[in-house]
Amino acid sequence: MELTHMSLTDDLITPSSAIPGPATAYQSDIARYWDHEARPVNLRLGDVDGLYHHHYGIGEIDLAAIGGPADSERERKVIAELHRLEPAQADVLLDHLGDIPSTGTLVDAGCGRGGSMVMAHRRFGCRVEGMTLSTQQADFGNKRAAELGIADFVRSRVANMLNVPVGTGTVAGSWNNESSMYVDLHDLFAEHSRVLSVGGRYVTVTGCWNPRYGRPSKWVSRINAHFECNIHSRREYLRAMADNRLVPNAVIDLTPDTLPYWELRNTTSLVTGIEEAFIKSHKDGSFQYVLIAADRI
Ligand SMILES: C[S@@+](CC[C@H](N)C(=O)[O-])C[C@H]1O[C@@H](n2cnc3c(N)ncnc32)[C@H](O)[C@@H]1O
Repeated sequence: MELTHMSLTDDLITPSSAIPGPATAYQSDIARYWDHEARPVNLRLGDVDGLYHHHYGIGEIDLAAIGGPADSERERKVIAELHRLEPAQADVLLDHLGDIPSTGTLVDAGCGRGGSMVMAHRRFGCRVEGMTLSTQQADFGNKRAAELGIADFVRSRVANMLNVPVGTGTVAGSWNNESSMYVDLHDLFAEHSRVLSVGGRYVTVTGCWNPRYGRPSKWVSRINAHFECNIHSRREYLRAMADNRLVPNAVIDLTPDTLPYWELRNTTSLVTGIEEAFIKSHKDGSFQYVLIAADRI
């Protein structure tokens, strides 16, 4: 493939050999977690069209598409429907990046198996740099990018999102898609602020505990234990952004939009046991699913 702009190997990017991996014992635990993660709810959904996500879905369920309880194809149809809602979520995230030129670079901090990166490249034509703590995920994402013929544009690396292997001020847009609950938010936003160019856009889609509820509910604690993460409050997001030259231009509560996904998922053989905690906490108002987009000033 002929490149119309700088390739991924130009000196804007630190060579991969210089990239630090997990920096703490906690990060090593998270790397191990994702290295061994092979839940059917992620892989069988990704198999539908080859876009592998580790995030939840948003949108209404198409009841006609999933068939009735007696439908012999019901399981396959429900999986396809759950999967349809995952890129719908990523599309909303990408909408909030604004206009990204094809010559620009995007950063996916905590990229998982790379589904959102492929979507970003397809939408903007630009290159996308992903970081994950998991070697398995990085290899998986790079293999998919090669199969799709876009390896010159989409790259996953084993790297720490608190130490992004990208030059200062070189990035047009960056995001965390359900990956900010693994790190200190001040450290995270300081790093996004460093790599983003002035006027660049940052977007996160994340679960956060709701300050209006008071403190993290038992459901939030259960989710933390399940994923070995530390969910922050909505207030912490906004404060850490403000402290790091990231000024929100959109804060969207996606909680009502993700509930149908959880309720449908809870009816399938793909349940992981954490569904009840999401459904209960989204309903009692203690845990919100939000999108926050911010301008780097
Ligand atoms: C729930 S998955 C989300 C994956 C992806 N964003 C998606 O939407 O499919 C969380 C991801 O965050 C990554 N992660 C957690 N802490 C990280 C860190 N300090 N640096 C880089 N990646 C990290 C994990 O390796 C994993 O890929």
